Amino acid sequence: RGSGRFFIGGNWKCNGTLQSVTQLVDELNAGSVPDSVEIVVAPTFVHLDRVQRSLKSPFQIAAQDCWVSKGGAYTGEVSAEMLHDMGIPWVILGHSERRSLCREDDELVGMKCEYALSQGLKVIACIGETLEQRESGHMWDVLDAQLAAIARHTSLANWANMVIAYEPVWAIGTGVVATPEQAQEVHAYVRKWIAEHVSAEVADKLRILYGGSVNDANCATLANLEDVDGFLVGGASLKGPSFINICNAQN
Ligand code: G3P
Repeated sequence: RGSGRFFIGGNWKCNGTLQSVTQLVDELNAGSVPDSVEIVVAPTFVHLDRVQRSLKSPFQIAAQDCWVSKGGAYTGEVSAEMLHDMGIPWVILGHSERRSLCREDDELVGMKCEYALSQGLKVIACIGETLEQRESGHMWDVLDAQLAAIARHTSLANWANMVIAYEPVWAIGTGVVATPEQAQEVHAYVRKWIAEHVSAEVADKLRILYGGSVNDANCATLANLEDVDGFLVGGASLKGPSFINICNAQN
């Protein structure tokens, strides 16, 4: 288990209206969450400012992506320095939806991590295999390559500002959550990989989150697993009461 605080991320993906975002923020502000948990929610870019103004401590905010280098002539993009300037502390990078739908490859994700960290952002870096990769026996190679690209671009000191989210693609938005054995197996593997390729100290401290169909009903079992240090929640993070329950998964 990583030594940092248990971490709960809520990835709102491409969802929300002014009305639904206001309601969700109200529900979160009204919820009771333990001090022992670090909680970060990721609204869309257009909702970031509103959420930042209205969401109270201890909730923190993340962007869902950012550009790979300094801003400039990149129509439609948002840069890491803009997020930092806005006081947004966290960014999610390498989510599987961006890897598949926006064709972000391992190297680009590694470079994005490097640039975001260099601009003072903290990073939730996502990895995970597809069902086909798992069933064809390529899962470990895929995870190795995703981790290697991130590690190649991350200085030892910057690991303190990063968490890794393991999100098996087949579990995302499907209602098919990884079994406790499957989650623990990969999380332990990731920690060992980091110990061998980065450092034992980083591996001991690193928080490794599980993502993929986490909900009120399955979160307590997953939260008890030795190498699960938190969650990255999609669908259930859009419902305030459910997300609050997940924030209390360890209680
Ligand atoms: O980033 C979180 C995510 O991909 C998991 O989504 O809806 O399966 O909880 P969901």
